[in-house]
Amino acid sequence: MTFMVANFKSHQTAVQARTWVNYFSSSYKSKIGEVAVILSPSFPNLSIFTNVPGALLGAQDVSPFPPGSYTGAVNAKQLRELGVEYCIVGHSERRRWFGETNQTVAAKCRELWEVGIIPILGLDADYAQSQMAALDVDGEHPLIVAYEPVAAIGTGHPQSTRQVDEILGKLLPVIGNFPILYGGSVTAQNARDYLAVEGISGLLVGAGSLDANEFAKIIDQA
Ligand code: PGA
Repeated sequence: MTFMVANFKSHQTAVQARTWVNYFSSSYKSKIGEVAVILSPSFPNLSIFTNVPGALLGAQDVSPFPPGSYTGAVNAKQLRELGVEYCIVGHSERRRWFGETNQTVAAKCRELWEVGIIPILGLDADYAQSQMAALDVDGEHPLIVAYEPVAAIGTGHPQSTRQVDEILGKLLPVIGNFPILYGGSVTAQNARDYLAVEGISGLLVGAGSLDANEFAKIIDQA
């Protein structure tokens, strides 16, 4: 199974989100069974993406706490109720701008597992050991790992496939058997090259997913 994850980040008004869905629905040729397409809008737009044919719903964040008195927090149960099946946690932007620590990420994963949502963990190669160890994964809980070199995120300068291959060689023993995605300036032009790297099971796409036709083309490379 190849995972193609769109991370819309803090983009898209509701009108833009609806337009995206319309364009995507007309340009995307579903490959159900071969490719899992996961669309991750920001919270207010989740309901707009619930019924996109051939696509699954992802979230970009979740509360590290259970339901309760945590003002402003969106909990895992609420996400599940909306049909969310995957959730990005520990993205480098969350770590950098929102102070997300390994402990917070671990708590978020526990909340997600509790309701059956699969975490997509943003992993930094330099801290992979501690980031994985903090999760305390035991093989019982599902997880997808997204390897995203910080210098390649949103810069238009993807890491070379040779470097990705080299770094994955070092990361594999740390990550184990979980599917690994590459993320960082993926486009329809380079998607196929990254998917060809041994050990890569899919892509996490930011800017390249904001244009529905471009994202459909990226999926076509799988
Ligand atoms: P990018 O973002 O595709 O815009 O580089 C990827 C990500 O941050 O998930």
